Amino acid sequence: MVRRHLEALPTFPLPAGYALRMFERGDAATWARLVQAADLHQAVSADRHREVFGEDLDTLRQRQFFLTAPGGEAVGTATAWYGSGGWERDWGRVHWVAIRPDCQGRGLSKPLLHAVLERLRRLGHRRAYLITETVRRAALRLYLRFGFEPDLRRAEDRSVWMDLRRAGLPVALPDCAFEPMR
Ligand SMILES: CC(C)(COP(=O)(O)OP(=O)(O)OC[C@H]1O[C@@H](n2cnc3c(N)ncnc32)[C@H](O)[C@@H]1OP(=O)(O)O)[C@@H](O)C(=O)NCCC(=O)NCCS
Repeated sequence: MVRRHLEALPTFPLPAGYALRMFERGDAATWARLVQAADLHQAVSADRHREVFGEDLDTLRQRQFFLTAPGGEAVGTATAWYGSGGWERDWGRVHWVAIRPDCQGRGLSKPLLHAVLERLRRLGHRRAYLITETVRRAALRLYLRFGFEPDLRRAEDRSVWMDLRRAGLPVALPDCAFEPMR
């Protein structure tokens, strides 16, 4: 999915007692715990954090967010990452969004995603993309709420999105496929 610009980002307040903080040394394990707990579709280890994000502390401090509950425990994470695989230049990537299962469905992902997109904007990215899967209905709704739209360059993706729309997902499907400016 793509967001063609990073202006006019919707804002959502954090509930009382919740806060956002950035990556700190040792948080690769925090991240793995959260992603593993949130994600019913794949297994994730702390090594995976290194593979995906590297080990540059300054970069991670700038780009990786944790959402903390009252008391300070991390219950969510999301990362304002670089584009890759053809999405370089001014694309930023929303990467590995996860809310701990016992905290899902309370709107907590929204202030977290706002912070990620705002951080991408401040770091000089001008557009954002992400990769997700059709089974992730809450994620799809979240991204649509934030102005992401389907990347319809492949005909087979259009039919998948049409099925999702028939199943009740509030998604608009433009006639013209999005053309990324690479
Ligand atoms: C996706 C995820 C981050 C959303 O976080 P969340 O805090 O539970 O979501 P929110 O409560 O903020 O709700 C976001 C949207 O999803 C909808 N939603 C929440 N739970 C849902 C569910 N079980 N089924 C369908 N939609 C759901 C909400 O209604 C909201 O949409 P709306 O604004 O149109 O009402 C969280 O469910 C999660 O961690 N899932 C597992 C990991 C994952 O799929 N990550 C995304 C990878 S791309």
